[in-house]
Amino acid sequence: MSHLETAQAIAKTAGAMIRLKLDSGFATEEKSSAFDVVTEVDKESERLIRGGILEKYPEHRFLGEEESFVSGRSMAEFLEEAKEVPYLWIVDPIDGTSNFVQGIPGFTVSIALACFGELELGVVYDPCADELFWAEKGKGAFLNGRPIRVSATAELARSVIATGFPSKMEARREVYRGLGNLLEKCRTIRSLGSAARHLAYVAAGRLHGFWENGLNAWDIAAGVLLIREAGGTVTDTGGGAYTLQTTDVAGSNGHIHEPFLRCLS
Ligand code: IPD
Ligand code: CA
Repeated sequence: MSHLETAQAIAKTAGAMIRLKLDSGFATEEKSSAFDVVTEVDKESERLIRGGILEKYPEHRFLGEEESFVSGRSMAEFLEEAKEVPYLWIVDPIDGTSNFVQGIPGFTVSIALACFGELELGVVYDPCADELFWAEKGKGAFLNGRPIRVSATAELARSVIATGFPSKMEARREVYRGLGNLLEKCRTIRSLGSAARHLAYVAAGRLHGFWENGLNAWDIAAGVLLIREAGGTVTDTGGGAYTLQTTDVAGSNGHIHEPFLRCLS
């Protein structure tokens, strides 16, 4: 089984487990603030994914959202070392926890593999829609086995852009600023509740662009590779190159990237 096949199988197993728990009830707690929630299912999903990956590849490193939070180790510390690490798995066990808590479909499992700091594969699974997105560096992007491409739209005025609302207030204000500018320039805006799903939708041509401030590597790494492999562009919101440390991210079909970024600066 290749790395990609392993990630696909584990994402589907975790997604099925999460989907089942939606109907059976679960405990929820607040993390850094009332705006930042986690459930026992997030933790169970991360244990399942971590166990599945490290059982197959015991020498690989693993960065998961919940593990980093619980252990108190900062993401910056993990990512500082990433350029030296042959295999680093970057995982969000549920991206869109607020959707999950509210019983709104559209939460995802996001799994990426970085080799010496470079993204090699990305898998995003939406268990409610049974949509499995994946990409491998240099090999294209796919949805349930079919190749996907970004949209051809070249005008911001004919673009549908997505964003999200981060838990940290400073980042939320930044989003609000971009929102104010973009609302006057693009067709409309969506906020579907999962950064990974937004990025996957840009890759599939369903959205023309997505940006958000204050994200973490686990929210975006898999989706970034999906967009790149589907022919799109991902930078930070200032136009700088995307790295694993990027927190303010902008991804688009590439054709609208410049006017899109102008609204965010
Ligand atoms: C969140 C989702 C959401 C975004 C938040 C993220 P989480 O991730 O991606 O769409 O707006 O900023 O924190 O907490 O559900 O994994
Ligand atoms: Ca999460």
